[in-house]
Amino acid sequence: MVKIAPSLLSADFTKLAEEIRKLENAGADIIHLDVMDGHFVPNLTLGPPIIEQIRKTTSLPLDVHLMVTNPQDYLSKLAEIGIEYVSFHQEIVPHIHRQVFVLKEGGVRAGIALNPATPVETIFPILPDLDFVLLMSVNPGFGGQNFLPLVYSKIEKIRQMNSEIEIEVDGGVNNQNAPKLIEKGCNILVAGSYILGNLDYKMQIESLRL
Ligand code: DX5
Ligand code: ZN
Repeated sequence: MVKIAPSLLSADFTKLAEEIRKLENAGADIIHLDVMDGHFVPNLTLGPPIIEQIRKTTSLPLDVHLMVTNPQDYLSKLAEIGIEYVSFHQEIVPHIHRQVFVLKEGGVRAGIALNPATPVETIFPILPDLDFVLLMSVNPGFGGQNFLPLVYSKIEKIRQMNSEIEIEVDGGVNNQNAPKLIEKGCNILVAGSYILGNLDYKMQIESLRL
């Protein structure tokens, strides 16, 4: 069964608690939080103080996607807050293994995120140590961009290597590409503008499930 993870990037940031409650009622499985630092990506969003507040508003699993230059500075704090899923980008961390273990020792599901141009082969050696892989299907930094179909073959390659690992796809996800993403082996769909860009969150979430 695919899990639907709405991205709060497309939410009304002046009403976060209300938006989260609406997403819970609409059947969201996970809440996806995009942390951007203005260095790794050309945009700024939120950090641990706001995430800590968000944690108190929901019992849904939280999925923190770190699009930052120094993810190692935040991992222990996110574990302490009680975040369920945390991913950081392969492209910016020289010692991936070390940081993955910081997460795992903190009781967090550990994921590596890959930009569209990064080959999946770059993380094959550590796949057995990961809980999930986040495959970007847009270049990170903004919501509402067009989906890049190159992600389909990346899902297939990871699935061939590992049948257990969770595969999350993020960027431009909608009801047109969701069936093929699920068929290829993706089990977590992140969607921002597709879900929150419509008043009826429940209808949008349901339309992403097979
Ligand atoms: C983009 C973020 C995504 C974003 C997706 O850098 O990682 O999570 O919110 O938004 P949509 O679904 O609108 O492409
Ligand atoms: Zn994201």
